Amino acid sequence: MTDRYAVIGNPISHSKSPLIHKMFAEQTGQDISYEKIEAPLDGFAAAIAQLRKEGYKGCNVTVPFKFEAFNCATELSDRAKSAEAVNTLSFAGAAIRGDNTDGAGLVRDIEKNIGVNLKDKRVLLMGAGGASYGVVLPLLSADSSLTIANRTASRAVELAMKHPNSAIQGSCYADLNGLQFDIIINATSSGLTDEMPPLPLSPLSAKGGSGGIFAPGSLAYDMMYGKETPFMAFARANGAAIVADGLGMLVEQAAEAFYIWRGVRPDTQAVIAALRAPL
Ligand code: ATR
Repeated sequence: MTDRYAVIGNPISHSKSPLIHKMFAEQTGQDISYEKIEAPLDGFAAAIAQLRKEGYKGCNVTVPFKFEAFNCATELSDRAKSAEAVNTLSFAGAAIRGDNTDGAGLVRDIEKNIGVNLKDKRVLLMGAGGASYGVVLPLLSADSSLTIANRTASRAVELAMKHPNSAIQGSCYADLNGLQFDIIINATSSGLTDEMPPLPLSPLSAKGGSGGIFAPGSLAYDMMYGKETPFMAFARANGAAIVADGLGMLVEQAAEAFYIWRGVRPDTQAVIAALRAPL
C-alpha cells in the first residue's frame, strides 16, 4: 500500500514540495504519494482531521499554518519547541508528532552543500520573525557564535533571550557598525519587496574593498530562492566570498522531513541540481 503524504498551505500552488518528494521517492525506491492541499484560512484543523481519517502518514505545513500545526501536535521535538512552529507532522495512531526541519535544512545546506563549517564562526542572522525562530536552535547546536539583528531591535532581543544559556546577542543594525562576520544569513522578508536590511556600510566596504561587515572568505546566505535579492547583490559588491540563495535549504528541510517519515536520507545534491536547471 502506498503511504500518503501532503503539504498544506494557503496559497499552495507555487509549492515545489510535491516535485521534491517525488524525486526523493524515485531515488530511494520508497512507495509514497505526496500532494499539495490548499486549506481554507480557517480550515487547518479540519484539513488535518480529514488527512488522519483517510490514513495519511504525515504532512508538511507551510504559510500561514505553522503555528496552528505547532498547537495541534500532541508531541513536539526540541527544535519545534524552539521554533514555536511546526513544518512536519507525523500521524502515529492517536499521536500527532510535530517537528521543525527548517533549521536542520539550513545547517546541512551550509555545511554539506556549500562546505562551510559553522563551528566557532561569527554568524549574523538578520530578522527576528518566524524564519529566524525556525533556525536559531540548530545554528547554536552547530557551535556558531550567533548575533541576531532586527529592524525592530526589541524582537531580536526577545528571540535571543529565549536561549539564556548561550552567548547569543540581539541587536539593531546600527550596533553592527565596525563588526565583521563569517556568515551573514538573511531571514527577513525584505527580498519580497526588493529591499534589503539596513546593514551598515563601512568606509572601506563603501569603496568596494575588504574590511566591511563581510570577513575575508565569508558566506552571504539568503533564505529566499528563485531570484537575486538586493542583499545578495550587496554581498557580491561588498566582499562576500560566497553568495548563496535558499534553494538548498528548501531541499534539505524536505529531506529531513523525508528522513523523519521514511528513515532514509535521499541524495539532495541531485535534486538541487535538477531544480536549478530550469531556474
Ligand atoms: P517571517 O515569518 O517570514 O519571518 P515575519 O514574522 O513578518 O515573517 O518577520 C519578517 C522579518 O523581516 C522581521 O524580522 C522584519 O523586521 P521587523 O520585525 O522590524 O518588522 C523583517 N523585515 C521585513 N522587511 C524588512 C526590511 N525591508 N528591512 C529589514 N527587515 C525587514
